[in-house]
Amino acid sequence: MPKVVFISLDGAQRVVDAHVGESVMAAAVRNGIPGIIGECGGNCSCATCHVYVDDDFAAVVGGANDMEDDLLDLGVADRRDASRLSCQIPVTEDLDGLTVHIPAEQ
Ligand code: FES
Repeated sequence: MPKVVFISLDGAQRVVDAHVGESVMAAAVRNGIPGIIGECGGNCSCATCHVYVDDDFAAVVGGANDMEDDLLDLGVADRRDASRLSCQIPVTEDLDGLTVHIPAEQ
């Protein structure tokens, strides 16, 4: 079962067991990770699941799709190159150890 590491602003790390096929957002919400809300349930319409993907995983995670890219532009306070909506990142075995940083606000 792949593990996903969530790092909050204060540096606290929380490691969760994620199911292959679920989204990183779903794994976060299921495990009560603070700062990941997932208000729209993963429909790419709320941007409350914003994360910054750690540099070590940027290549394997890849970039945002068109719809996600638009929402990141409109709905995120501090968009960066590493910004992704975690509901649009499906968990795979290749993502074991995936580390994401939680933004200051959603
Ligand atoms: Fe709403 Fe990701 S959960 S955009």
